Amino acid sequence: MQPDFHPVISATGLFTPTESISNAELVGSFNAYVERHNAANAAAIAAGEVEALQPSSVEFIEKASGIKARYVMSKEPVLDPATMEPRIAERDDDEMSIMAEIGIKAARQALDRAGRDAADVDAVLCAASNMQRPYPAMAIEIQQGLGIDGFAFDMNVACSSATFGIQTAADYVRAGNARSVLVVSPEITSGHLNWRDRDSHFIFGDVATAVLVEDSSIAPTPHWDILGTKLKTVFSNNIRNNFGFLNRADPGSRDTPDKLFVQEGRKVFKEVVPMVSALILEEAERLRIDPAKLRRLWLHQANAGMNRLIAQRVLGHEADEDESPTVLDTYGNTSSAGSIIAFHLNSDDLEAGDEGLICSFGAGYSVGTVFVKRHA
Ligand code: COA
Repeated sequence: MQPDFHPVISATGLFTPTESISNAELVGSFNAYVERHNAANAAAIAAGEVEALQPSSVEFIEKASGIKARYVMSKEPVLDPATMEPRIAERDDDEMSIMAEIGIKAARQALDRAGRDAADVDAVLCAASNMQRPYPAMAIEIQQGLGIDGFAFDMNVACSSATFGIQTAADYVRAGNARSVLVVSPEITSGHLNWRDRDSHFIFGDVATAVLVEDSSIAPTPHWDILGTKLKTVFSNNIRNNFGFLNRADPGSRDTPDKLFVQEGRKVFKEVVPMVSALILEEAERLRIDPAKLRRLWLHQANAGMNRLIAQRVLGHEADEDESPTVLDTYGNTSSAGSIIAFHLNSDDLEAGDEGLICSFGAGYSVGTVFVKRHA
């Protein structure tokens, strides 16, 4: 008979870029672009042929999203009103790619924290909302960079990539196909953000996270038992990015707005909050967990208002910062990495037996829940 395997989270890792952009810097650059655009098109605007662009504001950004700053891999060109996108030099094929580089930094921290030798890891999943190239998989480059003998592949479920990766890793462990799996999420979201779009230019930031999922028999102390995972997807066009290999032939396509991140933010807000809350409550019931007793929620970091509502529906009262910590104020929305950063930075203080929830949601739509319990 096959032995019982129990997947746990052994450790997490975080890479944070050195450069950060404050809302004031971001709005200063955006408004300089608006002024330039409106001055260059003054006659057409006066004739009613071109619409004047409207300025952005720090107050709006903070009130609508809760974001105060974001880290980026390439600050100066993003803030240059003539460029307004990251400029990350292409590397030769024999150099390590940038996504692998930052993914490895986060992964090494997770391995160090777990006291795990990379040679003892069996698999690597690179779970992120954008891959730098279609193949060879980013995950295989990360595997090689770490010196792991096993298998690796990429997966993309947009903002839910990391939690979907955790369930996938947990399933490998449960099935006995791997004992130690790294889920790495390098998110260079600044490359898919339309920095010229007033409605969304403030949203994203860059980062990389890693989660080491292992069988409890080899896990370090302390670790986090995975009590249960639940995933859900429902198709929606309300968060969309049409960039892809079939539109490469059009030289202008990279700059057309639909080839970057586009969203109907209001609809996302209204439709995703009930979907996420319902999934969490259903899964808590299935696991016989009283949601009101969850010690901490590590929620996806897209919008402070969404998190406030979800936490309230789950806990039955308004959550304080200790119950539902925020990292989007300093990191912005880091796509799939957000809930993992929240967990990484705000979990060491929990005690054995404390239960909590890692939860992501976003494009697809997609929702992923990972209920965990601190194990001494
Ligand atoms: N500066 C100043 N004003 C702005 C602005 C900016 N940068 N962007 C928009 N506005 C204005 C709008 O023009 C609008 O003005 P009006 O009322 O005169 O028409 C007003 O602010 C409200 O705009 P709206 O887009 O409805 O804002 P919102 O309150 O819905 O907030 C989001 C926008 C995107 C922050 C919010 O909808 C959100 O976070 N939704 C969820 C998004 C999400 O989680 N996405 C997942 C991504 S993976």
